[in-house]
Amino acid sequence: MGTELKIAPAYRDSHLPLYQEVIAGDPVPAPALLREYSEIDVPVARVSRDEYRSPAFAALEEERMWPRVWQFACREEQIPEVGDCVVYESPGASFIIMRSAEDDIRAYYNSCLHRGMKLCAGDTSVTKLSCPFHGFTWNLDGTLAHVPSRWDFPGLKDADMNLPQARVGRWQGFVFINRDHDAPPLEDYLGHLPGHFADWSYADKYLATVIKKTVDANWKTAVEAFLESYHLAGIHAQALPFGGDASTQYDVWADDPHVTRFLEPTGVMSDQLPRALSEQEILNAALSVVFAGTEPPQLEDGMKARHYMAAGMRAAMSDADGVDYSAMSDAEAADAVQYSVFPNMIIFRSLGYPYVYRFLPVRGDVNRATFEFLIFKPKPKDGGMVPEVNVVDLGEDDTFASAGVLPPWHGEIYDQDVYGLRQCQAGMRDGGDRDILYSAYQEVRIRHLHQTLARYLSDDPADTPGRAQA
Ligand code: FES
Ligand SMILES: [Fe+2]
Repeated sequence: MGTELKIAPAYRDSHLPLYQEVIAGDPVPAPALLREYSEIDVPVARVSRDEYRSPAFAALEEERMWPRVWQFACREEQIPEVGDCVVYESPGASFIIMRSAEDDIRAYYNSCLHRGMKLCAGDTSVTKLSCPFHGFTWNLDGTLAHVPSRWDFPGLKDADMNLPQARVGRWQGFVFINRDHDAPPLEDYLGHLPGHFADWSYADKYLATVIKKTVDANWKTAVEAFLESYHLAGIHAQALPFGGDASTQYDVWADDPHVTRFLEPTGVMSDQLPRALSEQEILNAALSVVFAGTEPPQLEDGMKARHYMAAGMRAAMSDADGVDYSAMSDAEAADAVQYSVFPNMIIFRSLGYPYVYRFLPVRGDVNRATFEFLIFKPKPKDGGMVPEVNVVDLGEDDTFASAGVLPPWHGEIYDQDVYGLRQCQAGMRDGGDRDILYSAYQEVRIRHLHQTLARYLSDDPADTPGRAQA
């Protein structure tokens, strides 16, 4: 008698298939890493709503968490030439991410060692870093190059005037920084991520577009709305016939405090619908949302809606990218395979969602955050230069749908999320003092985020994830 592979929590009670059951019937099978399931007990069931609305809590995050985590700062292709700089405004500290040599990237604190002026006001390209206030100047390697009226600083030593740096880590074209020189290396911090993206490299992709939107929500409210599919019925009801919320798999791993994932199947109905839908009904509903106006085909006997949709996605993306995706698994082609990196990054491993998100607090306003939505494209095969990133800055009244860079139905989904975030934050802010409650399974990634956050905020540095125990 073999032991049955565990693929759901024991207390799950739904008549709909689990993710592993869904993909087991796929004609183009999923790779091994999608056939894994991991569940651990994350006890955090309730947190104070002050975590989302109190300036004092935000200040604690800025003091204890942000300075000790690896943060995605920019992409390497944003700084292709020596001297290229991106300014990354991290909570509580501004950085110049600079290509200081052909294969060296530095993160300098964006502040002059004379009287503190910002050295760079925005992204730029320099041969030396010269302060706009009085002209102190540094070489690209951070050594002091020039002090106007040097005689006026008697005793000043060049050796004491190197620009301070944060650590830089690079993974698949993503440049990360960390202010904590005792933190674990980036490759340890990223836990399951490098292994799971070994065959899905973002190094082969370039950042084509960034949509920036200020949302009326704490940065955690914003991240968390993308860590669960449970809100499908409330916020994205149009996707109930095919969005797979009840069949979504949520993975958290022991000894991986920074990375979680969900596997959300496409072409599977929700258990919040009153009756079972046929595969044909699922397909009709999906196509009416995804490709409004197209006449849905009659599904052949035995073909499921998700298989039709996966084939459609492979064909559409092969056309768009000029890359042959015909051998890609149905799961990778059609589903939302999505990972989070603590604290504020979300990254997809899905053909139809070539997306990464970053969320950052808005300084001085605990009820707002910036939501940066990054869209990637495959790099040209000839290794040629990639175009400069197209930045779409959405104003207060601008919508994702109006940005014109996403498939229309994705635009609609994200606009619904922005609305949901605003209402959620407003309710948390103005709704009294009862604690916030998280579900056991569908919100386990949110529990996990708060568990890791609590470890960073702890008085005891030994609680910090990944820190060598004394
Ligand atoms: S503040 Fe930078 S040179 Fe004076
Ligand atoms: Fe959503």
